[in-house]
Amino acid sequence: MNRTESFTGETLQVVRGARSGVPIAVAIHSTARGPAIGGCRIKPYRSWRDGVDDALRLSEAMTMKCALAGLPYGGGKTVAALPAEGLDPVRRPEVIADIAEAIAALGGRYRTGPDIGSTSEDMAEIHRRAHGWAFCRPEAQGGSGTSSAATARGVVAALRAGVAPGSVAGLRVGVIGFGSVGRLVCQSLLERGAKVVVTDVDAGLRPAAERLGAIWTTEDLVREPLDVLVPAATGGVLTAESAAACGASLIVGPANNQLAAEEVATVLRDRGITWIPDVVASAGGIIHAVGREELGMDGKAANAKIDAIGETVDAVLSRARERGLTTVRAARELVALA
Ligand SMILES: NC(=O)c1ccc[n+]([C@@H]2O[C@H](COP(=O)([O-])OP(=O)(O)OC[C@H]3O[C@@H](n4cnc5c(N)ncnc54)[C@H](O)[C@@H]3O)[C@@H](O)[C@H]2O)c1
Repeated sequence: MNRTESFTGETLQVVRGARSGVPIAVAIHSTARGPAIGGCRIKPYRSWRDGVDDALRLSEAMTMKCALAGLPYGGGKTVAALPAEGLDPVRRPEVIADIAEAIAALGGRYRTGPDIGSTSEDMAEIHRRAHGWAFCRPEAQGGSGTSSAATARGVVAALRAGVAPGSVAGLRVGVIGFGSVGRLVCQSLLERGAKVVVTDVDAGLRPAAERLGAIWTTEDLVREPLDVLVPAATGGVLTAESAAACGASLIVGPANNQLAAEEVATVLRDRGITWIPDVVASAGGIIHAVGREELGMDGKAANAKIDAIGETVDAVLSRARERGLTTVRAARELVALA
């Protein structure tokens, strides 16, 4: 389905960057709970319309993520749709300036943060140009810095809530993606006594994974017999086919949009596989960013709120179990009640 045909958001602004010529979409899905927040994605797209689709889909997920995390914010997203062949790096500052201008034009109804293709340094520039409406500037510049550690902490809290009776010692866990979040999840699980198997398309990461004590594999971890599968790379890893072949009992990870389609959640439920929605498991980073920068939390308070993701997981799983729902459906119902 083309999401632009079923627009359920509040505002969709698409501009052609005055300096760069790059199409920039800012989708505000909801401001019902507070200003919309969501990352800034800068990447090549086959068509700028695909970028708009991404902005719409991801902004809706951010509304759910904020509501389920109990944050006084709604969902939004920025996508700068670079040409399919990429952009001359020399022109990147023009793209950042154009993004800042697009965000400033929304008058504070939307604030951004880093996402694929954008960095803390970019947020510093957007913060400077767009009235401070950007999170996660480097700490040296007054921001909350990278959110990877907070995201990893939230994933581990979600995972611990998902495994009964709660201990991860001795569990066989497969992690797809040894990036900035995946490696911290691996480390935390190894410290807790789990047996961790990891894969990444970047084979150069193997020595670092092995130094931590993880087992490197090139096998498709979705199909391996595991207690827990942690998708920590790209979205869309769970298709109808991969879900039908999945060998894990529990799936929980930071990757956004893990389900290729919502129906995949039904396949997982019917196979007795517990899938913790990514909008629940990946909220640690956003809790840390807004908690530290806008909600007056110190590190301890932010960590406590991140750890409370475990309680949200309990609520989603109980509702799903009691009503025979998929976990996605249960999460949506909890959002409606929030
Ligand atoms: N960083 C955060 O705070 C945060 C917050 C919320 C959600 N997320 C999501 O979590 C995921 C991981 O984030 P990150 O910051 O660690 O990203 P990252 O780019 O640092 O790491 C991703 C890793 O996945 C690997 N990878 C890519 N495609 C792969 C594939 N098909 N199979 C195996 N490995 C593959 C990459 O080589 C890379 O090492 C992303 O989907 C991101 O959108 C991250």
